[in-house]
Amino acid sequence: MSIPGAEQLHDVRLHVNGSVHEVQVPARRLLSDALRHDCGLTGTHVGCEHGVCGACTILVDGRPVRSCLMLAVSAVDAEITTVEGLTEDDGSLSPVQQAFSDCHGLQCGFCTPGFLTTITAGLADNPDPSEEEAREMIAGNLCRCTGYQNIVKSVLRAAELGKGDE
Ligand code: FES
Ligand code: FES
Repeated sequence: MSIPGAEQLHDVRLHVNGSVHEVQVPARRLLSDALRHDCGLTGTHVGCEHGVCGACTILVDGRPVRSCLMLAVSAVDAEITTVEGLTEDDGSLSPVQQAFSDCHGLQCGFCTPGFLTTITAGLADNPDPSEEEAREMIAGNLCRCTGYQNIVKSVLRAAELGKGDE
């Protein structure tokens, strides 16, 4: 029996980082909130909740998506990758993560998950970007700390690491 006034919940099966998460959410639940609060994957950060800052960017079927602009109920058939899923199978850092470490691409780290996912997808499309292309790759993400120089360097370094250059 449903309780009058209670919000209806939906059973949703989310495929995240190779695992299945069965969650019960209201239809209005943002995917960003479902990942953080229902799946416990707090690596995805929420800044503006308006699609502006990019902190909440995840990969949906390999494409970068603002998880604050998507409803959890609309993600049932998708393969989702969050920042927690970027590490290599053996637990080592991915080229983009390693590059951020090498080039000091983060300070407070709040924006970093969104940059890491965005750049991972960007390098899949363009594995050998020019500096200008690296800047374009990150143009949709906001960082309040770094001045972006080291993030651009990180993109170029990640491209080197991805090619196997040490
Ligand atoms: S929290 Fe989603 S774009 Fe800012
Ligand atoms: S490292 Fe602090 S907001 Fe980007």
